[in-house]
Amino acid sequence: MNISNLKFDKKHIWHPYSSMIHPLPTYQINYAYSYKLVLNNGRKLIDGMSSWWSAIHGYNHPVINKALKKQINYMSHVMFGGITHIPAIKLCKNLIKITPGNLDCVFLADSGSISIEVAIKMALQYWYSLKISKNKFIALYHGYHGDTFGAMSVSDPHNSMHRIYRNYLSNQLFIDISKCRFHDNWVNDTNDLDNLVKLNHHNVAAIILEPIVQGAGGMYFYHPQYLVHIRKLCNEYKILLIADEIATGFGRTGKLFACNHAKIVPDILCIGKALTGGTMTLAATITNRKIANIISNNDIKCLMHGPTFMGNPLACVAANASLNLLNQYDWKKCIFMINKQLKKDLFPLRNHEMVQDVRILGAIGVVETKYRVNVANIQRWFINYGVWIRPFNKLIYIVPPYIIKQSALKILTKAIKKSLNINNNFIIP
Ligand SMILES: Cc1ncc(COP(=O)(O)O)c(C=O)c1O
Repeated sequence: MNISNLKFDKKHIWHPYSSMIHPLPTYQINYAYSYKLVLNNGRKLIDGMSSWWSAIHGYNHPVINKALKKQINYMSHVMFGGITHIPAIKLCKNLIKITPGNLDCVFLADSGSISIEVAIKMALQYWYSLKISKNKFIALYHGYHGDTFGAMSVSDPHNSMHRIYRNYLSNQLFIDISKCRFHDNWVNDTNDLDNLVKLNHHNVAAIILEPIVQGAGGMYFYHPQYLVHIRKLCNEYKILLIADEIATGFGRTGKLFACNHAKIVPDILCIGKALTGGTMTLAATITNRKIANIISNNDIKCLMHGPTFMGNPLACVAANASLNLLNQYDWKKCIFMINKQLKKDLFPLRNHEMVQDVRILGAIGVVETKYRVNVANIQRWFINYGVWIRPFNKLIYIVPPYIIKQSALKILTKAIKKSLNINNNFIIP
């Protein structure tokens, strides 16, 4: 390792959720390919994270690289105000084709959080145009929608640190999620939600949720019928439904979009992360023609958002290449095989004394532990084992690239199993 680089990093560079006084260790990655990350000292790690759900085809993919190199020779970026280009047009055509239902008006945003801000604006502007005062959002406890202020306001009050920002954040309405899990028989436990909606619908612009999988807020998989129920409630009480598929989109749960498990169509859909196969930052907020027309038909006559790097051509070609790849190989079979292996290797850990629960859906494997992990210790332990897994709170989870080999996946699950036997990996009271 080059110590001076790491020293500089530690002293001067913020990492996600990091401290400038006591930062968690960082590891220098020099190269990544397929499902492997290569450390500065040449050691190869098997990747269990897909760089937070994004690198679904693995790293350094020749098809995406080729598309990026070709595009660089034309233009890396050009403003989107008053200008359009083929990469964006192709991408939006693609997205309209593959996203659920009649969603056909696409806003290209620069990150997942920004796509949520745009979704919130779409919902607010929709009701503004109709001259109906609806300014609140219903959101779910343990939901996570990003780190910008609108997104934080609809994220779980604990995880999004509402406490710190309480004088600044908008107050939204929160409700516990259904206790009925994805694989359970459906039992309707929506009374509290129904009552909240009945009491507040006059003021509620939209319900926002992560369909089927609550990610960063707890890695919980809920029953598709819950989503069906919420869709009906939204129709009945004239509330928009915003589906945040930023983590779940593009196959991760076994369906192309998690909404497809419930066969529902949201009014506004947010996608990001795997959109570019994890190569560039890009997200999108997509709504239907009716909502888009209403938004566009008020005194302002437009949707009030327009980032500098909107529709970045490089990001669009990466997304097009990634979507083409999804068409070219049998990603459903990959997810099926990963799912089977995860079940075989991780379900038996339910009996381990350190384990609270094991949850598996699509290519997502979650081991919930009884104690919080010591992130620095368990991360170091995993690296020594030769894998890249980054747990948080009581959650050791993997979302590997779809192209991971069975033998490599076995090493990941074995690493999880062995990590449970090391007390130092946990904060045991
Ligand atoms: C469900 C969900 N929504 C929104 C976001 C925010 O996306 P980004 O980190 O690209 O801003 C994330 C990121 O983890 C997410 O998982």
